[in-house]
Amino acid sequence: MYQQTLGKSGEGKLEAAVSCRGLKKEFAQGEFKNLVLRGIDLDIALGGITMLVGESGCGKTTLLSVISGLLNPTAGDLTVIGQSLIKLSNKQKVLFRRENIGFVFQQFNLLPTLTAVENVAVALLAAGIVRKVAIEKSSYLLDKLGLGSRINAFPSQLSGGQQQRVAFARALVHEPKLVVCDEPTSALDSATGHAVMQLLDQIAVEPNRAVVVVTHDSRIFEFADTIARMTDGYITEIRSNLRKR
Ligand SMILES: Nc1ncnc2c1ncn2[C@@H]1O[C@H](COP(=O)(O)OP(=O)(O)OP(=O)(O)O)[C@@H](O)[C@H]1O
Ligand SMILES: [Mg+2]
Repeated sequence: MYQQTLGKSGEGKLEAAVSCRGLKKEFAQGEFKNLVLRGIDLDIALGGITMLVGESGCGKTTLLSVISGLLNPTAGDLTVIGQSLIKLSNKQKVLFRRENIGFVFQQFNLLPTLTAVENVAVALLAAGIVRKVAIEKSSYLLDKLGLGSRINAFPSQLSGGQQQRVAFARALVHEPKLVVCDEPTSALDSATGHAVMQLLDQIAVEPNRAVVVVTHDSRIFEFADTIARMTDGYITEIRSNLRKR
């Protein structure tokens, strides 16, 4: 459906999950302009987990939102899964996101009138999958995340950590090529956080997949293949090949 324009080698193989060049994002605040991303140069490799770390307010969530096509950059080039996002209309971006990207953001954004399993199934129903299959697939994933007995609960009946796992299942159920997570383990105890990271790890190992995780949680750094540090709107340090795959 999408013309793959950049980020490919001669054989049509993707070289990177995400490629940012000189990426800038400016927010207008009254008369002032707040330049939050000041020129991001970053390649995010396929087949692994990249963690994005940095102090509060340095621009991590903004960068994830731009990479995911939720915010338009002010300047620069951005290629995601072989597609130049700069070239897509907003409507094309919605379709691109639905097909290729899974998100877990700081707010879980679960629909309050749907049960846990229905919240997950929404991603599949939107893609035209029949309800019975969508519910089965969603139940299976929730069970894997330790929520097998809570699939029919409404979000208001779940703890913060349980809601976070539902948000996870919703992000992963359509098997996206790029998974972006903002502080995915912050509301979880160590054991659940570890289980969630193991699941992400299984997903990330696929050669055409990548997982990007913004985190302050040093307990999960062991899962990172690459750690990129952000300072005041720039990438200031990249440590790669941290794990043997
Ligand atoms: N929609 C917006 N309009 C105006 N300014 C914004 C907007 N979103 C973010 N900002 C500003 O951009 C800067 C970076 O915000 P961002 O949420 O990306 O930080 P962060 O690194 O994710 O921080 P945290 O670790 O606290 O989540 C902040 O100064 C914030 O106030
Ligand atoms: Mg943030």
